[in-house]
Amino acid sequence: MLSSDYYLDKTALVTGGARGIGRAIVKRFLSEGVRVVVCDINPDGMDDLLADESIDSAMVLPVVGDIRHAGEVLDQVAAAGWRIDYLVNNAALSPRIPSSELARDVLNDVLDVNVSSAFELSRMLVERSELSAGGLVIVNISSVNAWLGIPEMAHYNASKAALLSITRTLAVEWAPRGVRVNAVCPGSTWTESWEEGGWGEEDRARFASKNPLGRFATPDEIAGTVLFLTGPDAGFITGHGLVVDGGLTASV
Ligand SMILES: NC(=O)c1ccc[n+]([C@@H]2O[C@H](COP(=O)([O-])OP(=O)(O)OC[C@H]3O[C@@H](n4cnc5c(N)ncnc54)[C@H](O)[C@@H]3O)[C@@H](O)[C@H]2O)c1
Repeated sequence: MLSSDYYLDKTALVTGGARGIGRAIVKRFLSEGVRVVVCDINPDGMDDLLADESIDSAMVLPVVGDIRHAGEVLDQVAAAGWRIDYLVNNAALSPRIPSSELARDVLNDVLDVNVSSAFELSRMLVERSELSAGGLVIVNISSVNAWLGIPEMAHYNASKAALLSITRTLAVEWAPRGVRVNAVCPGSTWTESWEEGGWGEEDRARFASKNPLGRFATPDEIAGTVLFLTGPDAGFITGHGLVVDGGLTASV
């Protein structure tokens, strides 16, 4: 907990907040007294989050929705009369597909969710001034894959590089509006998405051994980095991609 009342009366919008890293970000904001709009396409995941007894549901506005329809997501925020101080573009698709089998429509779907929807949600929020409280801070969840050619993930790697690039451009374009835009680039962080991707214990040990710290990040460690970028000590940081990878990219 920060010692100041910096986060008093603040509100965050976290996409893909029902599980994994997104859920850790939601819980971290709540622990600082930040209200959170949680947007997720998965209603069961949302129910599971809201059933978490450590969460004060009065501080949460659940929006079961698809970020591909950014306007509809923001309409629900407007209907509740909430204004956003922090936007975390965390929702993403990460299917594991060899490039030789990667259909163009699947590639486009991944880019649509991971890049275009995050971009459009950010732009709409900046334009709909009634929805942002002023001094908006945007944190995009990119990945170390922005730099790496992880096999069977060409679509995903490309999306994360694009999101990092957009982060830099929006930071420059929107600085005069008082908007800061940064990215967090996590390394391997064990979440449900790894299991869904068919990655097993052997893969887990292999990926962990690639970074000097020899382990996966925890979702809480990524959430803490997001919190830092929204916080008072990051006031002069914009257009940055903060790598949280146990030294992986330093060692290759
Ligand atoms: N887990 C890792 O090792 C790792 C590493 C680097 C970066 N990241 C990034 O961190 C973020 C979170 O990763 P995770 O492992 O927790 O993912 P995850 O797949 O476990 O969770 C993603 C969430 O986003 C939601 N979502 C997906 N499409 C959506 C849409 N169109 N609209 C609204 N919600 C949608 C899902 O329902 C899910 O709850 C992603 O951006 C991912 O690319 C993860």
